[in-house]
Amino acid sequence: VEIIASPAQMQRWSDDARRRGETIAFVPTMGFLHEGHLTLMREGRARTTRLASSLFVNPTQFGPNEDFSHYPRNFDGDCALMRTVPVDVLFAPEPEAMFPAGSQTWVEATEVTRGLCGDHRPGHFRGVTTVVAKLFNIVKPHIALFGEKDFQQLRAIQRMVSDLNFDLEIVPVAIVREPDGLAMSSRNAYLTPEERERALALNRALRAAGECLKRGKRTAAQLAAAARSVLERTPGVEIEYVEAMDAETLKPIDRLERPVVVAIAARVGKTRLIDNVVLSPGLTS
Ligand code: PAF
Repeated sequence: VEIIASPAQMQRWSDDARRRGETIAFVPTMGFLHEGHLTLMREGRARTTRLASSLFVNPTQFGPNEDFSHYPRNFDGDCALMRTVPVDVLFAPEPEAMFPAGSQTWVEATEVTRGLCGDHRPGHFRGVTTVVAKLFNIVKPHIALFGEKDFQQLRAIQRMVSDLNFDLEIVPVAIVREPDGLAMSSRNAYLTPEERERALALNRALRAAGECLKRGKRTAAQLAAAARSVLERTPGVEIEYVEAMDAETLKPIDRLERPVVVAIAARVGKTRLIDNVVLSPGLTS
């Protein structure tokens, strides 16, 4: 894996690759890689001739009381995992290279970042869309892959790419789960064994929403209530939100006439976890 820290050098790498007629897939990450990231990378590898990734723990997407300073890091381990894919080039800039003194331009998708995590993490999505816009301008990919686990992030980035005419394709990739159903996340590393057990309630709650749809319930409120009741019955799981929203716009809906995303954020101990499932109205038993 070639490691590049300078934005200008990364741009040159991509310009050269494009001049040679290569196509570039890009997987941005904050490191501490797991099978979810590797799935995105393998998918990118299969679709283009060059695979780029980035590792940057973006300070602008963390709130003042969030886990920026102790976000898990393992640069050497991440590079070793990237070699297994293999990733061709890793862009790993210092914070000063991404946000030099005097930076003052932000990119914000407005409506789609209202509600869900947007209500609980003020400024988070503005930090995400800003850094991702910068990464797109630096890495210049033809396609970029994002996991559906961060569903609102995916929708915000799709909105940004469409609204600002970025010349690239966003490829969504399904959530990767542990064999027991826990959605893979770098933050799972924070969980004690007992907390990890309790965290399985998130996936159980989403499955309960799916069962509810199969039993013929037809409102978003009914699906959300089914998921909520599973979480409420699990001690040590503190709900931040459980919502069923239009899966395209992330706006509230009443009757399930279009695909709906049931999304959860909950704290297990000190760890904030998110998970979701997209359900379609045709899904009946
Ligand atoms: O999903 C993530 O890991 C981050 O939000 C991203 C897209 C790399 C931006 O910092």
